[in-house]
Amino acid sequence: MATYDVIIIGAGPGGYVAAIRCAQLGLTTAVVEGRETLGGTCLNVGCIPSKALLHATHSLHEAEANFAKMGLVGAPPTVDWAQMQAYKADVVGTNTKGIEFLFKKNKITWLKGWGSIPAPGQVKVGEEVHEAKHIVIATGSEPTSLPGVEVDEKVIVTSTGALALSAIPQKLAVIGAGVIGLEMGSVYARLGAEVTVIEYLDAITPGMDAEVAKTFERILKKQGLKFVLGAAVQGAEVKKGMATVRYKLRKNDKEDAVEADCVLVATGRKPFTKGLGLDALGVEMTPRGQIVTDSHFATNVAGLYAIGDAIQGPMLAHKAEDEGMAVAEVLAGKAGHVNYAVIPGVIYTAPEVANVGKTEEQLKEEGRAYKVGKFPYMGNARAKAVFQGEGFVKLLADAETDRVLGAHIIGPAAGELIHEICVAMEFGASAQDVALTCHAHPTFSEAVREAALACGDGAIHA
Ligand code: NAI
Repeated sequence: MATYDVIIIGAGPGGYVAAIRCAQLGLTTAVVEGRETLGGTCLNVGCIPSKALLHATHSLHEAEANFAKMGLVGAPPTVDWAQMQAYKADVVGTNTKGIEFLFKKNKITWLKGWGSIPAPGQVKVGEEVHEAKHIVIATGSEPTSLPGVEVDEKVIVTSTGALALSAIPQKLAVIGAGVIGLEMGSVYARLGAEVTVIEYLDAITPGMDAEVAKTFERILKKQGLKFVLGAAVQGAEVKKGMATVRYKLRKNDKEDAVEADCVLVATGRKPFTKGLGLDALGVEMTPRGQIVTDSHFATNVAGLYAIGDAIQGPMLAHKAEDEGMAVAEVLAGKAGHVNYAVIPGVIYTAPEVANVGKTEEQLKEEGRAYKVGKFPYMGNARAKAVFQGEGFVKLLADAETDRVLGAHIIGPAAGELIHEICVAMEFGASAQDVALTCHAHPTFSEAVREAALACGDGAIHA
């Protein structure tokens, strides 16, 4: 039996980051991980492989749509699906091996296998029981499904199966117009599949700023995605490799169906805590199966902590990473803090969509007086030069104090630009602070500055 200061269960972005920071702060640290490779869902079957497929297929789209215009002539490339999958696997491998290297560098022990907690202060992996002063649960989440829709990861798939289909589908039905549905729907639409997205609510990407969601829907439709909104899926049947997804329109109860050779179920994820033994320990859970924690990530069981998708809050890798660093600090006797008001969200479609802080709808609901500064990418020289003039930057600021309250971007590099606003918000900046900051020309970032100028005396190029 080995004894550690900290044992972390799960080596995803929450767990591995927590481990590195614990080690850096002088704690003896072990991580339990049952997968063959480190990195969790994000690196193995989530964020990273999907980015590889998004990049490859976006490049194909660029070749088809824009190369000839730029004088790059010749037939557009054709798709070698096996090679695209190999490229994806290579990207994943490089990243997961990188974590293994960081573990060695920081002297973190990898306990290979699936862990459980037989008693406070103990973690069982296989037949061995290890002891720790602190245990951190960072076991992440798993996809949810729907009644009557049975996932086989061949015809009816979750995001995991969708990343590794044996062939490009001709017709793809996507259930759920959330982040996964739209990212993977974009990938297969660019590869030639006819993509139909079925969404329960009346708008795509629920919770997102409504103006951005509308523009996003229009752009995706132009790219060939079809949407059936306000539709409750009733079930899906597979016959001879073809699926029929039945749905009922909520407004008039009219029933209809979509046929597809592949169905992606992307209706959200749920905490993955199976097999840990939390019931027997008496760990308090929410009705949605999340582990209840206090502001220091402590559960109601002494010495037991939890972070990431397994607890409340947005299911995002970077939220888990921040909690990983914070819990490590807490365990090392330091402050450990996450500012949940400034957590960006990014959808890696083309164009990208990004947001931070309050939406206009939230501000209205709170009865707050606010200003809107909006700037279209059509007024941004760099965006026009690279055929990416669609979309806009929208900045929300307090009507009285001018303090930045939120930003919503749809357009080129949105996922990078949003961080300028994150930093501004962390420092309590005003829209004028952003507007008075010199931005290099010609960059996409000028669109952010122009939106900030629009909160004051007006944008220059609009
Ligand atoms: P999501 O919560 O983003 O979207 C699920 C969608 O399914 C919602 O629009 C919801 O209204 C719809 N839906 C639910 N039940 C339905 C039904 N019965 N019929 C039709 N539609 C239904 O969940 P998603 O896309 O599965 O992603 C899971 C998690 O992973 C999310 O928390 C997401 O933030 C995270 N993620 C983040 C990424 C990023 O940051 N780029 C990429 C991929 C996933």
